[in-house]
Amino acid sequence: MNNAKKAKGQLAVLILAAGQGMRMESSIPKVLHHVGGRPMLFYILRIANALKPGAIGVVVGHESDQVKAATLEMARSVGITRAICFITQKKPLGSGNAVVESLPFLKKFKTAAVMCGDTPLLTYESIYNLLLTHDQLKGQATLLTARIANPKGYGRIIRGALGEVQRVVEESVATSKEAAVNEVNSGAYVFELEALISGLKKIGAKGPKKEHFLTDVMEAIRAKGGRIHAYATSNADEIQGINNRFQLSISERVLNKRMLERLMISGVTIRDPQTTQVDADVEIGQDTVIYPGTILRGHTKIGRLCRLGPFTHIENSLIGNECEVRYSYVVGARLLEKTSVGPFAHIRPDSIIGPRARIGNFTEVKASKIGFGSKVNHLSYIGDADIAEDVNIGAGAITCNYDGREKHQTTIGAKAFIGSNVNLIAPVRIGRGAKVAAGSTVTEDVPDEALAIARARQVNKT
Ligand code: UD1
Ligand code: CA
Repeated sequence: MNNAKKAKGQLAVLILAAGQGMRMESSIPKVLHHVGGRPMLFYILRIANALKPGAIGVVVGHESDQVKAATLEMARSVGITRAICFITQKKPLGSGNAVVESLPFLKKFKTAAVMCGDTPLLTYESIYNLLLTHDQLKGQATLLTARIANPKGYGRIIRGALGEVQRVVEESVATSKEAAVNEVNSGAYVFELEALISGLKKIGAKGPKKEHFLTDVMEAIRAKGGRIHAYATSNADEIQGINNRFQLSISERVLNKRMLERLMISGVTIRDPQTTQVDADVEIGQDTVIYPGTILRGHTKIGRLCRLGPFTHIENSLIGNECEVRYSYVVGARLLEKTSVGPFAHIRPDSIIGPRARIGNFTEVKASKIGFGSKVNHLSYIGDADIAEDVNIGAGAITCNYDGREKHQTTIGAKAFIGSNVNLIAPVRIGRGAKVAAGSTVTEDVPDEALAIARARQVNKT
């Protein structure tokens, strides 16, 4: 069997992402605007892949190089290995034209699922049910629809006396009677390729922008004796599209609510869902408690029995079991078991802290390792340091890691004691069990168990 024949009978998924998104008033292509910490296109790509189709096509046009590169990066980040085929729509002549341009890609397949890149709230379940409905009812096209309170901006579903779907009318060309219909088109469809191809031949430019509406294909398919079916989801939230920043904020809220619900059901306490934001990729262990005003972003993984917040931002970080982070900002770091941070600490990338370490108020840590049980409790800067276990860093002690040109390392051995307000001029090594007197400026290595005093003797003048 040759490849073309094999592909017959299989499903292709087509994602429309060529539009400029004028209503976003943005220099960034619409489908790359973030919701839930990911570009909106990501969610559709993930559903497309989960359907295990024969191929995934993405129609690009506006800023196509940027959208292509971002799509490949999204696919890589979630381990999508299926090839993604890009179709370039030469001019933004509407969703119908976008599909026409994709026919060379689609026509190897018997069936095509088409989705819009700007509807990130769609669920896999609904798209799966849409395909199932299409298979069972054996029509030429099946649409995913929903009844919504305010249908403004969507294509309206016009049904006949027996409830059969007759056509979809876009708002810009709808009569007031049609506009009053509150069952709307989600922008997700399944088509039999033959019917789609012949239907597309019949559609022309329409509306104020002289666009080819993909939705006009429904009436054309019916005119040729084809049947259109609909799968109506009862969850109106999920069909919401994003055309402007206000709709972006609504989708953000819905995604966040979904994420928080999933976490709460899995055993995470969220004290105030209204003020808590958690990105789609964050994982949190059981019995962790999140206090108000907490934001968890990117690839963050939180262990069990942690206490996070209030007012804490954690991004791309790994937090071990039973850690506590209060009123703090943590990015690109690892906190090991039973470590406590804050209030008011800043933990910067490449820091590994703990287990059982303590970073207190007004302390900044950058690219440093702070070992088991060590404490940096007050007003310190620790940068490019390797601090072993059971070290105590006194209030206001800092590493001076930068000489104006290069960064240098500070190494502090186990059980060392660094007095208050010490300056450690890197590169420098403080030995195991060594002590540095308060107020010292240390420029030379301190041997194990030694006491270093590097400050001027006090003179009292009268
Ligand atoms: C579209 C549907 C509408 C539906 C709504 C759901 C049409 C004509 N209308 O309206 O029935 O209720 O989505 O959210 O399809 N695109 C291209 N090339 C183009 C134009 C658009 O690829 O030339 C892509 C866009 O990137 C977008 C999708 O098609 O992902 C929909 O386009 P958009 O302009 O957002 O259509 P809506 O007005 O929202
Ligand atoms: Ca849209």
